[in-house]
Amino acid sequence: MNLLEKAREYETKHSKEIDKNERPVFHLTAACGWLNDPNGFSYYNGKYHLFYQYNPYSTHWDDMHWGHWTSDDLIHWNYEKAAMAPDEDYETGCFSGSAITDKDGRHLLIYTAHNEPLHRDADLREETQCLAFGDGENYRKYEKNPVVTFKEMPEGAYKGDFRDPKIWFEDGKYYFVAAARLKNGLGGILCYESEDALNWKYTDTILTNEGRWGQMWECPDLFKLDGHEVLSISVMNMKRIDESYRNGNCVLAFVDRSETAQPLDVGFDYYAPQSMQDKDGRRIVIGWMQTPESSGSVPDEMKWFGQMSFPRELSIRNGRIYQEPIREIESLYTSTVVKEVNAPKAERIDGISGRTLDMTVEGRGTDFFEMKFVLKDDIFVKLSYDKKSEELILDRINSGRSASICDYRRVKIGSYGDFKLRMLLDRYSFEIFINDGEHVLSGTLYETPQDADGIEFSSDGELKITLNKIG
Ligand code: FRU
Repeated sequence: MNLLEKAREYETKHSKEIDKNERPVFHLTAACGWLNDPNGFSYYNGKYHLFYQYNPYSTHWDDMHWGHWTSDDLIHWNYEKAAMAPDEDYETGCFSGSAITDKDGRHLLIYTAHNEPLHRDADLREETQCLAFGDGENYRKYEKNPVVTFKEMPEGAYKGDFRDPKIWFEDGKYYFVAAARLKNGLGGILCYESEDALNWKYTDTILTNEGRWGQMWECPDLFKLDGHEVLSISVMNMKRIDESYRNGNCVLAFVDRSETAQPLDVGFDYYAPQSMQDKDGRRIVIGWMQTPESSGSVPDEMKWFGQMSFPRELSIRNGRIYQEPIREIESLYTSTVVKEVNAPKAERIDGISGRTLDMTVEGRGTDFFEMKFVLKDDIFVKLSYDKKSEELILDRINSGRSASICDYRRVKIGSYGDFKLRMLLDRYSFEIFINDGEHVLSGTLYETPQDADGIEFSSDGELKITLNKIG
């Protein structure tokens, strides 16, 4: 049995041992074992495909495979058989990459073959870019792999850090961007082009790190959005600047190559997002709801670890990227409760509770707002907004976590007349969208008991709460 057959046999058996009540309701998790980055997000042959960095054998990162889902609507996903295992002599892991339909109608995967023959010996480590062709179910690695090696990197760049190609097709040519460690030891984004997707040529370095944005970069994405160009990167070892970036890893986006970076998520757990254009032309992004920093604290009893964010639709308003859950989420609603209330101090509101929901809270005349959720006794997560200080504070200190890597964030968001918040809550995670997705805060809740489902509000204004239950 080869490595891929072994993985397929293993996941078929062990995924059945995970009860659906032990998983989130509308967020994706690995068939079994470990999941990190979304890969190969694409529309091929009438279906959406999403792959993932995958170790079926344990809830910890190791020997990367590609897991695979398909979907008709970006909401309901089917587990497909694992797509790739690290089974060639040029790889010990199939690292992140992307997918496209090639000129011959094949589903083309481009990924990083990570090769670390003597475990953790940095000098021997090499990362190259490789291809696999498929029909949406089975994938065959290209016999002339690798198609891009360090020989096609700029002078002085490190062969051990060259990864995560994101491919696109434009005006008759293929292109990809990939992250690399350049001769200054820091991250950079390299661009390649090809006529046939087999023979690639380095063209330029579109962004370099001069020490301002962390160290190595990963998982670049480059796309057009509402007449602008967006580059997003995942940043390793980001230094805290006052209260900003204090969770160590972050995703930054640059619009039209501006010098100003926009963090795409100001919560705790969001990294390595990948976007695609859907069949209606929307730009949809999915991220890994975790970061490398926080991924070590896996509760022993978990049979899976790692979740994808809910798909978000992107748009640009006034030069800023907005993110909102895709509207198809409405097809998951099972009931809706609407309440208009005043909640001067720590009020629980009849009918407003739960752990799987999509809830919007609109505050009018609000100078101060505070919400506790996943609340039970002394367990809760708290989000507050104070108009005077213009700060949003997310506090996970009391969420039941045994290991606290980062448990609060303070973010200056400006002063709003009306304050609007939307929260997706799904057993093991939350995603909070402020003012129609101008700011987003995501976080995991692995250790918060599932019966902690209370929600409590305090505000000096009037609140309109619309709670859509899911599942
Ligand atoms: C980001 C990342 C990628 C790499 C993959 C390995 O989380 O480190 O750069 O391709 O994960 O699993």
